[in-house]
Amino acid sequence: MISIEIARRHYLLYLLLPHWAKVALLSPGSRARLDRINLAFNDTLYSGEGAEDYDRIHAYATEQQHEYPAHALVESVWAPEGYGRALELGAGSGYFTTAIARRAQSVVAVEPVADMRAVIDKRCREAGLSNVTTLAGTAFDLADRVPDAAIDSALVLQSLHHFHRRPEVFAALGRVVRPGGRLYLVEPHHNLRRVARLLRKYATTYRRPSFWGDERNWATHDFLTRGELRTLCRHGGFGDVRITGYWIPFSRRLVPEPRRRFDAEHRLGRLPLVRHLAAVLAVEARREAGAAR
Ligand SMILES: C[S@@+](CC[C@H](N)C(=O)[O-])C[C@H]1O[C@@H](n2cnc3c(N)ncnc32)[C@H](O)[C@@H]1O
Repeated sequence: MISIEIARRHYLLYLLLPHWAKVALLSPGSRARLDRINLAFNDTLYSGEGAEDYDRIHAYATEQQHEYPAHALVESVWAPEGYGRALELGAGSGYFTTAIARRAQSVVAVEPVADMRAVIDKRCREAGLSNVTTLAGTAFDLADRVPDAAIDSALVLQSLHHFHRRPEVFAALGRVVRPGGRLYLVEPHHNLRRVARLLRKYATTYRRPSFWGDERNWATHDFLTRGELRTLCRHGGFGDVRITGYWIPFSRRLVPEPRRRFDAEHRLGRLPLVRHLAAVLAVEARREAGAAR
């Protein structure tokens, strides 16, 4: 049986395999190291200028492409009746938190990096929003910090690909979201196009021992397959799972106007074949009655 060891063995496999498979092959010692590596990675990337400049780096509010499709989904497609008591995991700079808060009774914004939480608080103050509470911690702290069935809508936007221990996170989501409540996700897609891109980067950069020998380059950054998303939802007790694909090849060229492109992809991104080519996946699911696994 192959055993992947952080900063020592099988980096190419670690890059290419879907997250659940690479975690299964990680040695127990390496699996334990990921907690520390991921926390340090987040702190380095998202503290100081990483927090203050997050929106500029991601061109939020200046280039519509960068908030596509999350912006349209959060603001006008999901939760036609509003989000109720919402939970957002990995809230970042709070760019989407304020949009959620405007359509919610309350929002608990979970964010592990202190400087990012400061940006969220400032943003909410400036927007005159008093219904957002930031929670210092990771997705793994939900179990102790949010009461059972206290949430109507949970949102994870472009953050899940940074998490390891994913079944644990979905079990916790299943516990805090009330039966009938909703789960909404937007995540980049681990498909053949992604594998090809990683292979190209491996050939030019990642194969150097100075790169893979640095444990920081093993921090979790694993896009998701459709199968993994369905399995995780089931694990958390979420059913009626609907997955739509966006960023379909050539769509920007064929339909440059974002809202029209969104409407087209919203319909086309569920079709067989087309859905496998999409670079971004959006998920809607409903918490079923009964226990999460
Ligand atoms: C790529 S950013 C996305 C931020 C925001 N959701 C957005 O779309 O702009 C990922 C965020 O997830 C946070 N994060 C990473 N690992 C996490 C974990 N285990 N639990 C909760 N948040 C985490 C990071 O600190 C970072 O703010």
